[in-house]
Amino acid sequence: MRRFIIFLASFFALSAALFAKDVKQTREEGALFIGAVGCKSSSCHGGAGEKRSQYITWSRQDFHTRALAILLDARSARIAETVGIGEAQSNARCTVCHSPFQSVAPVRLASTAHADEGVSCESCHGAAGSWLRGHTRTDWNYAMRVTAGMRDLRSLYVRANTCVACHQNVDNDLLKAGHPTLVFELDSQSINEPKHWRDDDPSIGPRAWLTGQAVALREAAWRSRTDSDPAADMQETSIALAWLLAKATTVEPALPKISEPASSDLEPVQKQADDLARRAPSWNPNIDSIMSILRALVATDSEFVVTKETSVQTLWYRAGRVVLALDRLSAALKQNRGIPLKIDSELNLLREDVRLHENFAAGRFAEHLRAFRAALMK
Ligand code: HEC
Ligand code: HEC
Ligand code: HEC
Repeated sequence: MRRFIIFLASFFALSAALFAKDVKQTREEGALFIGAVGCKSSSCHGGAGEKRSQYITWSRQDFHTRALAILLDARSARIAETVGIGEAQSNARCTVCHSPFQSVAPVRLASTAHADEGVSCESCHGAAGSWLRGHTRTDWNYAMRVTAGMRDLRSLYVRANTCVACHQNVDNDLLKAGHPTLVFELDSQSINEPKHWRDDDPSIGPRAWLTGQAVALREAAWRSRTDSDPAADMQETSIALAWLLAKATTVEPALPKISEPASSDLEPVQKQADDLARRAPSWNPNIDSIMSILRALVATDSEFVVTKETSVQTLWYRAGRVVLALDRLSAALKQNRGIPLKIDSELNLLREDVRLHENFAAGRFAEHLRAFRAALMK
């Protein structure tokens, strides 16, 4: 956990806001931000060829360039007014995720770094000041770049930690004021981001899913334990993910176990989640292991009953995580198995069931889960 806190502390913008007390100096800390235009020359990342076109992909297709513009719209103005923070586009409560350079001390911004570039290269790859010159040297390999301070995004663990920092942890008052609830799932969100890198290993899907969900659990548990005003969303997310990952890790002997928290004490599960997140990137599932997790999840239909202990809200959070898992794992199965799998219409019904909290009916979800199971086993 300690190492993780130090890692996040190195996440430049959030470090100041969230982890001020735990901050330890890292190499990245204090490094100069160059800005996206500093990466875009045509001989570097702004070229036309596949190998050099990262800037073009990002600037033309990536939603992250719009992140600041969102803060200028009416919905943002309403949220900001409700929270009482003045203008969203210049308040660190919003810009920390939507326009991270605005929270960086001016001395750390090179003249090429623009405060309005939204979520840009260095928001994910780390401040480039310490490695900008070295990283193009032909005698440097990847490990040397990482040692110089470039963030190791090839590691799924590091990648998940990078994305989750902006894709899950919204403060309770912002949620209450109407900020969309954020659901973090690394596999689908990586696919949805227009890719500016050569394809990852084609079997990355289930690993990315598992690493992302474990990191999501660790973060949600941590926020629930330590926030002075923890969001109900974070508590429900912790309980739902612990439930889901307990099912998955029970049937997969290669993985460290998650146990469902017996009490409201989430500290043990936070630690287990981090262990799982560190191991998941080297998990090498075959069709049988993916199938056994799918089987365990579709066998939960009998648990979708409202009781005194389990509210409809708790079941909705669980159902949401089940649907994400079925979606990602069945996609991996389709890719690896060769034989066609006819589950799309069943999966669509499940997706629709969990879309809106207010429309969720546990019994109908259980029924659709059984239909999915029947289609899967055919
Ligand atoms: C922890 C990071 C974080 C913080 C802090 C944050 N946001 Fe967001 N916000 C996001 C992410 C990520 C999304 C994209 C959600 C998605 O589509 O999955 C988002 C989406 C939004 C949307 C919806 C955009 C759309 O296209 O539907 C609005 C509006 C918004 N944020 C406004 C704000 C405002 C205003 C603040 C400050 C009061 C704020 N955000 C603070 C991360 C954050
Ligand atoms: C939202 C996060 C994010 C942003 C923003 C981002 N990247 Fe990346 N980038 C990644 C991830 C994830 C990878 C895949 C891991 C890897 O190969 O290092 C990657 C890979 C790369 C690679 C390796 C390409 C390959 O084929 O191996 C380069 C070069 C790169 N990014 C440059 C950039 C540049 C330049 C920008 C800005 C114009 C940028 N990135 C913006 C997340 C991001
Ligand atoms: C510095 C904060 C930050 C980081 C780091 C970050 N994002 Fe985002 N991301 C945002 C914000 C803010 C938005 C909302 C912008 C919009 O909707 O136009 C967003 C939107 C997105 C979207 C489109 C909306 C959606 O949920 O489908 C995807 C996909 C996405 N991010 C993937 C990633 C991935 C993958 C990573 C990690 C490699 C990552 N992001 C890292 C802040 C961040």
